[in-house]
Amino acid sequence: MIGPSALFFHQGNYHNLTRKLVQSSLSPDTIRKLIPSIESVAISALESWSGGHIISTLHEMKKFSFDAGILSIFGQLNSNFRQMLSDSYRVVDKGYNSFPTKIPGTAYHKALLARKRLNQILSEIICEKKESKLPEKDFLANLLSFKNEKGEILTEDQITDNIIGVLFAAQDTTASVLTWILKYLHDDQKLLEAVKAEQMAIYEANGRGEKPLTWAQTRNMPLTYRVILESLRMASIISFTFREAIVDVEYQGCLIPKGWKVLPLFRNIHHNPEFFPDPHIFDPSRFETAPKPNTFMPFGNGVHACAGNEIAKLEMLILIHHLVTRFRWEVVGSQNGIQYGPFPVPHQGLPARFWKESINRA
Ligand code: HEM
Repeated sequence: MIGPSALFFHQGNYHNLTRKLVQSSLSPDTIRKLIPSIESVAISALESWSGGHIISTLHEMKKFSFDAGILSIFGQLNSNFRQMLSDSYRVVDKGYNSFPTKIPGTAYHKALLARKRLNQILSEIICEKKESKLPEKDFLANLLSFKNEKGEILTEDQITDNIIGVLFAAQDTTASVLTWILKYLHDDQKLLEAVKAEQMAIYEANGRGEKPLTWAQTRNMPLTYRVILESLRMASIISFTFREAIVDVEYQGCLIPKGWKVLPLFRNIHHNPEFFPDPHIFDPSRFETAPKPNTFMPFGNGVHACAGNEIAKLEMLILIHHLVTRFRWEVVGSQNGIQYGPFPVPHQGLPARFWKESINRA
């Protein structure tokens, strides 16, 4: 459903090549130029939530992370195409994890049809991009201009599978972590005030939001950054990953024979009191000192480690900046409990009400 040619299903040469294409489109030099566009997506999302009506935080965060994902793949994309991609992707998202049957009307069957529509839409976008011949550095431009040492280019299926693959890797992950961040901040009003103080200083320095955030400012939000790291640890939304022993490995006196499948459990490592004392307590100050190597792996590790971790953190910093400086929120209903969809998220996606802050802080 996601696409057999998406990079994360591959090893070796093809994986290396496609990974380099993703990495160069998500390098700090490229993503810093996206700050103003990510800010405007964040601001219009927040504006649409405010007014006191109840929204599902997760659901809305998914729209935000989808739009930010679109920016990181296509740069600026015309709003018709964006809407068409969003409509079809939503159907794929609903069905990809459901019972695989081709009976018409089922979520899975609808998702299969929507996946075909995505191919058609992407094919049109690719055509336009080829015609425009603009010297761009976004992911699609990189995929289109790729040639290997034999002069071979990527097929259209390889291109579309990798685009859907990056959207898939980018959306639920970032949205789930952001939802947890809002819950953790809501549950600790003292911490929220401290984060707000950090962000207000930047907001004021920028003429109360008149000027866009700079890259340097996003690199200098130490408390907010620690809140993000602690949320990644506490929630450990990607609890584990899949690996295979490619040689016999001896680990703590046990032999893992070559060919055996291995599941490194990030969540267990992140909740081990030896590495993180009182692991069930949300305490961003534990990140004032760097964790020991290989004890904190929210973005995985090794050749398949997350290629989007920098932009994911950037999106979260930007959203938090605008949220705490200009809005307040209240969680509605049951405030505890976890659901899996498939990542762990607060019960019912954290229903909440948002208001625009009216206090004059001048
Ligand atoms: C907070 C948000 C995110 C988290 C927690 C996260 C976490 C992860 C993890 C754990 C992996 C697998 C690592 C492994 O198997 O060792 C991964 C892979 C990947 N992620 Fe992320 N991710 C996030 C956001 C993003 C975003 C925003 C993008 C792109 C814009 C992205 C793109 C990718 C890609 C392309 C891979 C596959 C890398 C490969 O197989 O070489 N991720 N991510």
